[in-house]
Amino acid sequence: MRENENDLSKLPINVTPRFYCNSEHSYIIVGSLGGLGLEFSQWLIGRKCHKLILSSSRGIKNQYQAFKIKYFKSFGVEVVVSTSNILIEAGCEQLIKTAITLGPVGEIFNFAAVIRDAEFENHTIEDFNKSLAPKALATKFLHRLSLKYCPKLKYFVGYSSVMYGRGYSGLPAKVIQWGPFGDVGLLADVELNQRKKLNFESPMQSLRSFLEQHDILLRHPEPIVACTVAVKKHTKSDTKKSFIDMLMEILNIEDRNSISMSSTFSQLGIDSLAGIEMQQMIEKEYNTNFGPNELRSLTIAELEAKINANINQQNRFFQTIEENISKN
Ligand SMILES: NC(=O)c1ccc[n+]([C@@H]2O[C@H](COP(=O)([O-])OP(=O)(O)OC[C@H]3O[C@@H](n4cnc5c(N)ncnc54)[C@H](OP(=O)(O)O)[C@@H]3O)[C@@H](O)[C@H]2O)c1
Repeated sequence: MRENENDLSKLPINVTPRFYCNSEHSYIIVGSLGGLGLEFSQWLIGRKCHKLILSSSRGIKNQYQAFKIKYFKSFGVEVVVSTSNILIEAGCEQLIKTAITLGPVGEIFNFAAVIRDAEFENHTIEDFNKSLAPKALATKFLHRLSLKYCPKLKYFVGYSSVMYGRGYSGLPAKVIQWGPFGDVGLLADVELNQRKKLNFESPMQSLRSFLEQHDILLRHPEPIVACTVAVKKHTKSDTKKSFIDMLMEILNIEDRNSISMSSTFSQLGIDSLAGIEMQQMIEKEYNTNFGPNELRSLTIAELEAKINANINQQNRFFQTIEENISKN
């Protein structure tokens, strides 16, 4: 509060924008009975949401979900659990029409996720589609139908991962890319080793932070936003060993000039076993993946260029995150 409201010298006042619901509108939460969806629904109620449509493929399956819904209703909130099949357009239409019976749809949040991770070679089209459908297909249908049925739509939010994406501006759409969460959800019970395999080894974000950050993320003008616990700042002493230095060390070569940059691994006498070792080393040191064929066919100069490009991209990514964090 300012002593004198006309005192311009005290302007601008720093504020954190807060997100609020319109209590007349209905809020569709897809994948709502999972770890984050359920807690987020409660957060929405704290932000004046009075009409919740909780979409789930299986409906209420455990005591905790039943307890939470009872708890939501104790605040006088209208809660409908919908098991309409969001993987088909007719199911999405049914979901939206159910929401409209409570009030015009204010927002749609898609938390749905099905994990079917596998090495690329072992992946099947069926499993890939099982993962893709509740995110991509359901989002496509809901988007299309929202244009027809939801004139009051303010936000259409997709929950994503820091691993993915770019998007479009100009639509009431937002994608939030998250790092891993430790308290609830699909990674809470996963061991560190397993998380490393999934490339989710960054520090775990707390549930409290997940909820609190929505004020900033939902009110942010960018359509794609990311939120994850900041990794340690890179310092000069963290600078990675260059690829060529690593190669010289592995091949026990002292004179840099004796490595021909236009040679491939096989021309340098690296057999397939040593090639696999090299592949793992590159992945570990530079977070860059090359398939065995690519590794065999690229010259040392081409490999170095690709690794450097990837390091630069990663550094830019972390720099952007750090800049955004310090801005906010
Ligand atoms: N947890 C993390 O660390 C983390 C990190 C990055 C991003 N995220 C993203 O955050 C979102 C929520 O994650 P979470 O950890 O809460 O996952 P979760 O606990 O596994 O919840 C996901 C929910 O999606 C629902 N679902 C799957 N298919 C559906 C369908 N066809 N129709 C309706 N609901 C469906 C499932 O409920 P039913 O079985 O009842 O259908 C499940 O409870 C996901 O989009 C995930 O990619 C999470």
